[in-house]
Amino acid sequence: IIVPSVQEMVEEKVITTVPPRYVQSDQDKSGVTDDSGLIPDIPVIDMKRLCSSAAKDSDYSEVQKLDLACKEFGFFQAKSLNFSLVNHGIDPTFLDKTKLETHDLFSLPMEEKKKFWQKPDEMEGFGQAFVLSEDQKLDWADIFFFTMQPAQLRKPHLFPKLPLPFRDTLEMYSAQVKSIAKILIAKMGEALEIKPEEIEERFGDDMFQSMRMNYYPPCPEPNQVIGLTPHSDAVALTILLQVNDVEGLQIKKDGKWVFVKPLPNAFIVNVGDVLEIITNGIYKSIEHRVVVNSEKERLSFATFHNPGLNKEISPAKSPVEKRKKRAKFKSLITKDYLKGLFSRE
Ligand code: SIN
Ligand code: FE2
Repeated sequence: IIVPSVQEMVEEKVITTVPPRYVQSDQDKSGVTDDSGLIPDIPVIDMKRLCSSAAKDSDYSEVQKLDLACKEFGFFQAKSLNFSLVNHGIDPTFLDKTKLETHDLFSLPMEEKKKFWQKPDEMEGFGQAFVLSEDQKLDWADIFFFTMQPAQLRKPHLFPKLPLPFRDTLEMYSAQVKSIAKILIAKMGEALEIKPEEIEERFGDDMFQSMRMNYYPPCPEPNQVIGLTPHSDAVALTILLQVNDVEGLQIKKDGKWVFVKPLPNAFIVNVGDVLEIITNGIYKSIEHRVVVNSEKERLSFATFHNPGLNKEISPAKSPVEKRKKRAKFKSLITKDYLKGLFSRE
């Protein structure tokens, strides 16, 4: 289903009420902040410390902190991204450049963006995710979604046609975020005593990576709409770059919606359904959503990581055998999993 651009709708003329297709007033949009005292802070993981710490360290190591964050929150913020390991780490000025150019993408003239618009029955391009019928309620957002890795799976009319400086930036960003994803997944594996070979088998060089940039225009009636419908991520690991500093992301914690307050120069990271499966349910894929603002636009940039398309998604051995548990999930090949997902099976 092809959807209109919310950004265009808002920029074309002043609107004071929300069109019916976007009205989702049945959900309470309020959220608590973690400094309310009701909710513990979202854990913060220091990448520099994580890289030099091991699960067996006797003191409360960064790996143990990561492990706890994945069990109890399914979400954490990763900071100190400019840590030094050969070819790893992200320079904060490079992050700023990435943010600026992401903003520029949504500022392109509409005629340009239309060239990238979703076609019928396609998930990739500008538009919205998972719109399957004309009477389905829509989110108050435009997204740009595309496959990034492996490079041979890129759609020829999308990434290769982006303006050149942005393409170069994304190529570099993709590699750096992927290396952070690999470190995080390896450390999670270490915490759960999953054999490194079992991690490498699933998250080797053929790891699947897709990207989604989100633009949430200001809305005259923010309580009537939802920026992003509540969902859990159907991937292994999501690494989110908050592009501007407008709040909006809420996660469900102990039955309450809690705002995530992004730290500067940090990523918001969350465990997706696939890691929940691989860890046999030990790590949690948590429901989250985005609410919008009456004055300010909000932008964010999510990078999703999954096992290679021909790899199996199944509980790893150690969470099952070592803990004498039953596998709670059946096994599926990644590409069949994704096929089922996009057809909403
Ligand atoms: C998400 O991708 O689920 C959240 C995106 C955002 O914070 O805008
Ligand atoms: Fe998400």
